[in-house]
Amino acid sequence: MSDAPIRDLKRTHMCGELRAHHEGQDVVLFGWVRSHRDKGGVVFIDLRDREGWVQVIFDASDNPEAHEAASRVRGEWVVCVTGRVRSRGDMVNRDLATGEIEVLGHRLVVLNPSEVPPFEIRDEVDTHEEKRLEYRYLDLRRPTLQKNLMLRSRLTQAVRANLTEQGFLELETPYMVKYTPGGARNFLVPSRLNPGSFYALAESPQLFKQLYMVSGLDRYFQVTRCFRDEDFRLDRQPEFTQVDLEMSFADEGDVQTVMERAFAAMFREGLGIDLELPLPRLTYDEAMRRFGSDKPDIRFGLEHVDVTTHVARHQGGGHPLFERTLADGGIVKAIRVPHSLSRSDLDKLESEAKALGAGGLGRAKVAEDRTWSQSPFAKKLAPELQQEISEAAGAEPTDVLLFQFGAARMVHGVLSALRLQLAKKLDLIPSGSWSPLWVTDFPLFEQDEESGRFVAAHHPFTSPREEDVDRLKTDPGSCRARAYDLVLNGFEVAGGSVRIHRSDVQAKVFDALSISEREQRAKFGFLLDALSYGAPPHAGIAAGLDRIVMLLARASSIRDVIPFPKTARGLDLMSGAPSPVDAQQLAAVHIGLKG
Ligand code: AMO
Repeated sequence: MSDAPIRDLKRTHMCGELRAHHEGQDVVLFGWVRSHRDKGGVVFIDLRDREGWVQVIFDASDNPEAHEAASRVRGEWVVCVTGRVRSRGDMVNRDLATGEIEVLGHRLVVLNPSEVPPFEIRDEVDTHEEKRLEYRYLDLRRPTLQKNLMLRSRLTQAVRANLTEQGFLELETPYMVKYTPGGARNFLVPSRLNPGSFYALAESPQLFKQLYMVSGLDRYFQVTRCFRDEDFRLDRQPEFTQVDLEMSFADEGDVQTVMERAFAAMFREGLGIDLELPLPRLTYDEAMRRFGSDKPDIRFGLEHVDVTTHVARHQGGGHPLFERTLADGGIVKAIRVPHSLSRSDLDKLESEAKALGAGGLGRAKVAEDRTWSQSPFAKKLAPELQQEISEAAGAEPTDVLLFQFGAARMVHGVLSALRLQLAKKLDLIPSGSWSPLWVTDFPLFEQDEESGRFVAAHHPFTSPREEDVDRLKTDPGSCRARAYDLVLNGFEVAGGSVRIHRSDVQAKVFDALSISEREQRAKFGFLLDALSYGAPPHAGIAAGLDRIVMLLARASSIRDVIPFPKTARGLDLMSGAPSPVDAQQLAAVHIGLKG
């Protein structure tokens, strides 16, 4: 073992980049032993680096010393190899990028041996994720994860270059900030120098980027980490990365144009695809009506049909469940499924619906005369209403209709999830297709289910539409926001809004959110002050970089594109964070633990 090769030999090529046109060249390679096979007199080593792997052959008759050295190496040892590229002749491996050639090794130097790794480092080896996360540095040697991280790097560079070209300055904002209510739950950092006081880890640069606009920096962007103490989901991490931007003298159209261009640059870099701009737009109301979701996957049909008005015209059509829904102010929605579904398929869908919070799943098969069969509904429901609903849904004989009725939030939640499950089950999602779109005109507020209080749907700095400002106090539920989301294949990949740039309007919105004047001063005084010193009209957006990389890499979890992610319980299984600290450390930050 020696460090001499690093001094004396300089790498000529990456292992994974060698091709037929390198035949005859002398090469110096560094890498990890992916596998080794000793075939009596000839040792085969697959040598791996981040670009891929190449077969190296050490032939005892050609070079006994190198052969001897090669026969001693084991998996994951780090070695330096010198040799000559030669054709594999008839032994070409078409499944491998380097498969037309191999390297005839002249010398092998071991740079560092390795313990036997706890799992085989291959994509096709299925190891429990907890094990992989515990040894993440080994897991990251897997080709798929290396490709994901290389894609991540390229996309980050592409978006940086694009936004810089569009006149944006890359500027930083603090991570340790003042706690302000109204957004995601924050992680808190105790202040040693200020007993009893805490910083919050920034959930986003929102207020600071607005302050940049007040300061006249005009166009800002940042690729920045955000911290949110949220519950786990497939597309969420407690620390994640945003491509965050803000611009002055701009409205929603200007921001969308900038973001679309940046997004298209990422598509071009990552997939070689030129997106057609401008991207399509749907209003929030239309998205909810047709898909029951504010982040619709529009790559397939199975759209929702709202049949509430038909049910109302027939006063519930004689069915007590429909009558109750109408009395409670609920809605009735259907999905027409023009595919055959077996009884057991339907039973399975029903249990999925129940798991999503539904009481059940209404179902019916459409007959020649558009009335329904194979449906407990059909027995009680007026045939004219059955026919009317079939027609409204455009249902043909033998189609299946699925129903959900009750409170709009539940109906949309259940039917939008079922729509996705059905599409997967029926294989309706064309693979390799991309359907980005804007969803616009979100509600300004939403009602908290438990307290009934209005909370900001996006964040409290989002501008209401001008025509709604007078209703902020009297009818907050009807106010629309100048907010927009970018959606890709059913995932929200960016969200932003036109901001409030006048302190009087900001105070009105705080008021509608039941934030008292005292609290406004205490929590947001600096913002209200800033808005009163010549704040320009401004607007912005932030894209979730991890989600975009996940989708473009076709990864199934955000953890596959984040080098060192946390588990669902917020743990870093490799380093053991979070971990207890001793009493002295706690005392230094003026904290005592209960019990
Ligand atoms: P928002 O909260 O919508 O907006 O976040 C913007 C985008 O960030 C991504 N994202 C996440 N990605 C991974 N894990 C998470 N926990 C997570 N939370 C959000 C999503 C989302 O679309 N300050 C505003 C932006 C603005 O108004 O300019 C904000 O943070 O892709």
